[in-house]
Amino acid sequence: MAAALKIDQFSLLDDGECDARIDAAKRLLGDRLVILGHHYQRNEVYKHAQLTGDSLKLSRLAAETDAEFIVFCGVHFMAEVADIVSFGKRTVVLPDLAAGCSMADMANLAKVRKCWAELSEILDPDEIVTPVTYINSAADLKAFCGSHGGIVCTSSNARGVLEWSFARREKVLFFPDQHLGRNTAYKMGVPLDEMVVWDFTRPQGGLTVDQIRKAKMILWKGHCSVHQMFQPAHIDNFRKQHPDGLVISHPENNLEVCEKSDFVGSTETILKTVHASEPGKHWLVGTELNLVNRLAEEMKPKNVTVQFMSPMVCMCSTMFRVDPQHLAWTLDNLVAGNTVNRIRVPEAVAEPARAALDLMLSVAP
Ligand code: 13P
Ligand code: SF4
Repeated sequence: MAAALKIDQFSLLDDGECDARIDAAKRLLGDRLVILGHHYQRNEVYKHAQLTGDSLKLSRLAAETDAEFIVFCGVHFMAEVADIVSFGKRTVVLPDLAAGCSMADMANLAKVRKCWAELSEILDPDEIVTPVTYINSAADLKAFCGSHGGIVCTSSNARGVLEWSFARREKVLFFPDQHLGRNTAYKMGVPLDEMVVWDFTRPQGGLTVDQIRKAKMILWKGHCSVHQMFQPAHIDNFRKQHPDGLVISHPENNLEVCEKSDFVGSTETILKTVHASEPGKHWLVGTELNLVNRLAEEMKPKNVTVQFMSPMVCMCSTMFRVDPQHLAWTLDNLVAGNTVNRIRVPEAVAEPARAALDLMLSVAP
């Protein structure tokens, strides 16, 4: 085994040189390698992915693959899930360790434990509250859910997960994304006055005992900064220009945006829905810019226009961390017999986290 190659040797390569190295590494590693790519990856990286998807699809693909190496072009929590669902049998690599998710970072184990302890002073959370974590969260939060009768959800199966949760316990503590929790529960008929926001910076979440007792949904005060840029006025303006236009949004958007949209769904659903569009349609899409730009290009030959919802650039800057230089660096290291940037979840955390993930896949596949 040669000494590990350093990222400095790659950071000055242009994209064309990186492409050649990535292609060569893929040929040399063959079936030993699978490159997974989330739909938010920039084109220069997305084109190298052998399998693409939303968070749910990529989790399944990671669980199913026989490849020795999973190189995950996505963000940290996705690579953690890949390691958990593959029982640590695959080597999961995240090309840039700085590729995180700012929303996932809005909740952590200490804060969630504090919340649970504060809830315990008012009610018995292990009897009446199901902790539900969005997959956009650290592995130890999934483990917390697994250890407290809770479950994980993604943007595509949140409804099924909440139905399962409410069939068992009367309340849900949903973290870290308040919007996915609110949008999903609202669609299920939970009134807004039975939803409260837990502000983790304040004692008892900034809520009264009465508010906590009455709430069906306790929503963590977290959000995705990318999706908060989209506003109802953007949809109103679009509808003025295109009265028969169609609007599709990701459920991480706020309630008003989702309510004004014709369709709401995960990145995979957005792609499938717009791909199936009739010619001549105009679409407004409320999700990350790389996905929307790629979709707009793909749909041009079909005479379908795809417009980004905001006049401002709303790009997932952490997904953008994965670039061809980091991808080439990690792959060339694998070829040389070195593993850099391996994501490994300790089994003590992975086991309860896996229980919550398996539950998700069994109740809301
Ligand atoms: P998907 O479930 O559509 O992959 O969404 C993940 C995400 O991070 C959206 O911001
Ligand atoms: Fe996280 Fe938002 Fe980026 Fe999705 S778009 S990975 S929620 S920061």
